[in-house]
Amino acid sequence: MLDRIAKIRAEALSEIASAAGDEALGVARVKYLGKNSGALKALFAEMARLAPGDRPAVGEALNNLREELAGKLRERGDALAAAAPAPGEREDVTLPGARRPIGHVHPLYQTIEEITGIFAKLGFEVAEGPEVETERNNFDALNIPKDHPSRDAFATFYTADGFVLRSQTSTVQIRLMESRKPPIRAVAPGRVFRPDAVDATHHYCFHQIEGLFVDRNVTLQNLKATLNHFCIAFFGDRIRTRFRPHFFPFTEPSAEMDISCIFCGAAGCPVCKHTGWIEILGSGMVHPAVFEAVGYSPKEYAGFAFGMGAERIAMLKHGIDDIRLFLDNDARFLRQF
Ligand code: DAH
Repeated sequence: MLDRIAKIRAEALSEIASAAGDEALGVARVKYLGKNSGALKALFAEMARLAPGDRPAVGEALNNLREELAGKLRERGDALAAAAPAPGEREDVTLPGARRPIGHVHPLYQTIEEITGIFAKLGFEVAEGPEVETERNNFDALNIPKDHPSRDAFATFYTADGFVLRSQTSTVQIRLMESRKPPIRAVAPGRVFRPDAVDATHHYCFHQIEGLFVDRNVTLQNLKATLNHFCIAFFGDRIRTRFRPHFFPFTEPSAEMDISCIFCGAAGCPVCKHTGWIEILGSGMVHPAVFEAVGYSPKEYAGFAFGMGAERIAMLKHGIDDIRLFLDNDARFLRQF
């Protein structure tokens, strides 16, 4: 019988200790010390039926237990009362919470989304490529000769194991063409890297948006119509555009595209260096050597490509005069967009 008393004691102590509130504590009190059907009441009744010689030990154990449990119930009750907030200290659920400011898309990415959105309406998909690239995808396959200055360590970041941080998103042209057959219509926004000294218009990390259109019978007309449409959709229908002959190894012919200065209406100002024109992208017809590098027949397919600097366009659009603002993470700047 002493064993059973010990077992009931252990049960009761753990139940009291873990009682989470007054209600649970009341249940435990009735269960063990209840006057009518409590566990101790039953044990006392049993004791009366024991041989007289066994009664004193059991009686003492039961009396001790009754006292111990009464003490523990009181202690636990006091502890629960102390933990509960006083009426005046209760949480005021009517008090408005501290508002967390909700962020929004970074102004540079707003610009990228707006640009890719214009091309998406023309049927261009949005593609992406890795920032760490092979020399082949960044240079060789784009018909950039081994001695081209852009391959210099002053112009491109190299990894110790022979890769490059892509210096242009033109790499995505190669990846797209090698992974499928024409027609291809895609724009590829992404980060590029060049070891340039940082100033108001240069950074070692910036963004470009590449474009590629490959199909049968693609012409320079298609290039001009597409890019003119883009410029008017993005900058407004009051601007004029022009193409200037240029050179890029991966296109032939190649052209740079200018828009009439949006700051002075082409009258001449410091932004357009008093020329009335602002350069916004490079473009051209995909060079046959590039088609050959990706296994396309230049006789069967033709295409145009273009590439623009996303920061530069966002700066023009919003009149931002320092590229570093995009990376400073200064909320006072970012909130304006
Ligand atoms: N990749 C060139 C650059 O970083 C930009 C460019 C020019 C991309 C002409 C093109 C293109 O696709 O056709 O300066």
